[in-house]
Amino acid sequence: MSVVAQPGGRAASAPLMGHETEPTLFEMSVANRSAYQLRTTEVPATPLSDLVPAAHLNPEIVPVAEVSERDLVAHFTRLSHRQFSVDLGMYPLGSCTMKYNPKFCDAIAGDPGLNAVHPGAPASLSQGWLEIMVTLEEKLCAVTGMSAATLQPAAGAAGELTGLLLMRAYHEANGDHRRRVLIPDSAHGTNPASVTLGGYEVTTVPSNDRGLVDLEALKSALGPDVAGIMLTNPNTVGLFEEEITEIAKAVHDVGGLLYYDGANLNAILGAVRPGDMGFDIVHMNLHKTFATPHGGGGPGAGPVAVAARLVDFLPGPRATRVGDGYFNWVTPVRSIGRVHGWHGNALVLARALAYIDVHGGDGLTRVAQHAVLNANWLRHRLREILPAAYDRVCMHECTLTATPLKNKYGIRGLDVAKALLEEGFHSPTVYFPLIVDEALMFEPTETESVQTLEALAQAIERIAQRAKDDPASLHRAPQSTPVSRVDEARAARHLIATADAVR
Ligand SMILES: Cc1ncc(COP(=O)(O)O)c(C=O)c1O
Repeated sequence: MSVVAQPGGRAASAPLMGHETEPTLFEMSVANRSAYQLRTTEVPATPLSDLVPAAHLNPEIVPVAEVSERDLVAHFTRLSHRQFSVDLGMYPLGSCTMKYNPKFCDAIAGDPGLNAVHPGAPASLSQGWLEIMVTLEEKLCAVTGMSAATLQPAAGAAGELTGLLLMRAYHEANGDHRRRVLIPDSAHGTNPASVTLGGYEVTTVPSNDRGLVDLEALKSALGPDVAGIMLTNPNTVGLFEEEITEIAKAVHDVGGLLYYDGANLNAILGAVRPGDMGFDIVHMNLHKTFATPHGGGGPGAGPVAVAARLVDFLPGPRATRVGDGYFNWVTPVRSIGRVHGWHGNALVLARALAYIDVHGGDGLTRVAQHAVLNANWLRHRLREILPAAYDRVCMHECTLTATPLKNKYGIRGLDVAKALLEEGFHSPTVYFPLIVDEALMFEPTETESVQTLEALAQAIERIAQRAKDDPASLHRAPQSTPVSRVDEARAARHLIATADAVR
């Protein structure tokens, strides 16, 4: 038997990230070792062949790793320490709102009273869940200025597709067969993808030199074949579209609808509502704005709220208040159908309601105010090294550019982002939006303190100094992480997601 030494004795003070290779569970496996053993009972075991038809049984014995519970826990804990996460430090990924989320929301989602209920349980046995959904829908409509919402979509992009299907259903119900949807050139990639999936063609609208939608270009792109426009406000550069009411009027005048990509809702909570700006359809990324950790592969939720004229088309069934204190599942009369196998990612919905309730209206307004304050603080603090792409007050995120570092020392945005990992910060979003050269997009969110922002600024100052003194070291960064600089293009095209990737 070969014995694999396990890296279990690392000192508590050792750095969390290192180059040691973690063995796989199969490498750690020892025959007949198990994580726990059930007490033998007097109930005779039913042979598997009595439970599963022979045709569905695999005649081969599938190997499983045999490890103790202690080794199993240590293995996954060590792996978790090789990751960067919102619980470990600042994660200023622009456009993604990677904010720290309070743990009480996890406690709510962990309540068996909620998570042990089968989604197929009849309404009479799941009144509590239906009430949660109805209450959340009402609150999301209050925040966005909309009439009703579906909670089914499982993410922002799923919300976008739902919104486009709603747009289509609405126009077609009016006998109006439209062809195009307008999208600004700064938009997130999911927007054009959703338009195409929704059966429309994309018309791109250029931004002006202030980073905003060029109103004249927009007007000239409009016509009777335009089904609508998809916008985020603040836009993906982090700037507020000041001419939004003129945009809304121009699109409505040709019979189009306005779709609000709610990825940036964090910035406007309690200050202005998409409905008041003229939007007709709004998706919200609950996993950005309302207390679900974004990223890490966990489930999200992208509820879609709509103006009164679109309510009848919403996906169904929807939890609905049908009588005094009684709730039931109701499918709207002209529903586009289901967009999720069940009712949505329910525990994300419960988290969001808990977060909204605990903050209250004033608390949500403060979330937006602090997010905007933090982004502007950072933009101003870094202005000598990484100037803003558009030198104006921003909203909850600031799009900076590494062009000066590139021109002086050959250091690109990617080098700065990689070096930040060595400094203990997650990288910002790089090279997005596409319209900004060497873009570095920072979204500090409301959950970071001024001390953390100052530490980030000092880390960037050290990187700028390295750019001057030792640029070659920045091209190799990061060196202190479990995986150092990879060939990004090759890594994306030849993904190896197995243990051999690090061999
Ligand atoms: C502006 C914008 N729109 C849409 C999305 C898609 O959202 P999701 O990742 O929830 O599908 C994102 C994601 O970050 C985004 O930033």
